[in-house]
Amino acid sequence: MKFFVDSADVAEIREVANWGLADGVTTNPSLLARTGRPYADVLREICDLVDGPVSAEVVSTDAPAMLEEGQKLARLSPHVVVKCPVTIEGLKAAKALSARGIKVNVTLVFSPLQGLAAAKCGASYISPFIGRLDDIGQDGVAVVDQLVRILRNYEYPTQVLVASIRSTDHLLRAAEAGAHVATLPFNVMKQIVKHPLTDVGLENFLADWRKTKQTI
Ligand code: G3P
Repeated sequence: MKFFVDSADVAEIREVANWGLADGVTTNPSLLARTGRPYADVLREICDLVDGPVSAEVVSTDAPAMLEEGQKLARLSPHVVVKCPVTIEGLKAAKALSARGIKVNVTLVFSPLQGLAAAKCGASYISPFIGRLDDIGQDGVAVVDQLVRILRNYEYPTQVLVASIRSTDHLLRAAEAGAHVATLPFNVMKQIVKHPLTDVGLENFLADWRKTKQTI
């Protein structure tokens, strides 16, 4: 499973990259707006930090304008993957961008059929937002499970990129469902390796070792 950082905060991304856990990055218009900086500067900086896909979303709503924006975003770096929403216009743009060799992450996916349509339009990634499904009382991970099975049934090369992850439990269940990628906010990323028994166990080992007064 690949871990992407779901952030446009360069400091967060740099830290996770230093841990060796940043296989890529996903941004969205809200995350980029939060930086208060020119989007192109932020994206270029992120692309220099990670040796993997960096998703950047178009902000137009008609296919021709999405295509133009997508090509402009792709010119920023070979790492850029263009995000298009799973609307009819977004799928038209995804098909046109894919035909030009530009990878597309079809986003704001909330149903298996939306994901299937995106795969048929040549999406490299489809992003089901599981946290937002849970927010309305649905089971977001169930959609991930359905998507993984549908893509496998027809041998689509499209990868399920699970987004809107709110907890390590979401990550665990997405991994059990066979998702290809999880994009993780910094606060969840920090929790992945944390366990109280690890902390206690390590402290006890080191306390016993200190008694030997040896060094290695
Ligand atoms: O970046 C896309 C997705 O991860 C957004 O998550 O928490 O705003 O639903 P969230």
